Amino acid sequence: MYNEYHSLARHIQELELGDYLEFGCGDGGFLKHVLEQNESFKSVTAVDINLESVKQARTTLEAFNIHFLIQENLPLGLEANQFDTITLSNTLHHLRDKTAVLSELKRLIKRDGQIIITEMISNDLTEAEQTYCRFHALRAEVDRLHGIFHETTYTSNEILDMVSKADLRIGSNEILLNSKEAAPDKIEVAEMEAIIDDLIKAESKRPEFPALKETAVSIKAHLHQHGIKRPRQLYLVTTN
Ligand SMILES: C[S@@+](CC[C@H](N)C(=O)[O-])C[C@H]1O[C@@H](n2cnc3c(N)ncnc32)[C@H](O)[C@@H]1O
Repeated sequence: MYNEYHSLARHIQELELGDYLEFGCGDGGFLKHVLEQNESFKSVTAVDINLESVKQARTTLEAFNIHFLIQENLPLGLEANQFDTITLSNTLHHLRDKTAVLSELKRLIKRDGQIIITEMISNDLTEAEQTYCRFHALRAEVDRLHGIFHETTYTSNEILDMVSKADLRIGSNEILLNSKEAAPDKIEVAEMEAIIDDLIKAESKRPEFPALKETAVSIKAHLHQHGIKRPRQLYLVTTN
């Protein structure tokens, strides 16, 4: 999916990765996208709290030599000031304690290193991007019903505010547009509809189900009319 953001490739190719940490690696999607386009890494470390996601990441990234760390409690078992590059990609809205994580990343980054934050945003979206944003909000709501911390998408100003409050200096800041064709595609619409149906079907015994269903119907109507694509992202380069 990161292929859909054409200007992201240019940014990735320009990075001097060196000793590189991806925080919140998930199933390894972003990390694979980076490592396949930029060989300037000396070492790669990937951290997540979710064992299943890390198992998936190990498979996705089997071509690379990566040190995986599954740990939630901070500080991480990693020495201070050891990374040249840290990435946090679409992970900010999954973090229960953003201040603690951002300050841990500050501890880990070298004095002249860069912390790159990419995050979907909720402002200035096209109709097709709004479909995805609304689908994401539904998924986040279902996750919360399962006790998983997952917030909805932030505006670019909210993200800039969080980062500034964490005392990180913002070197550059750019909105990455999604270059994917926006027109509704019949197969994609049918697939998304099935994903939305499956997502709420699993919750059919809950008291919240009628409200979830109503939301799903409204998202599907929007999907049929406008199609779907992942929202634009804020790309931030920050330093200590
Ligand atoms: C949407 S995924 C992003 C995955 C990856 N960065 C990508 O873009 O392909 C967010 C990940 O953050 C992880 N996460 C949430 N809280 C975390 C924490 N405190 N420490 C490390 N990872 C965390 C979640 O388990 C999830 O895998």
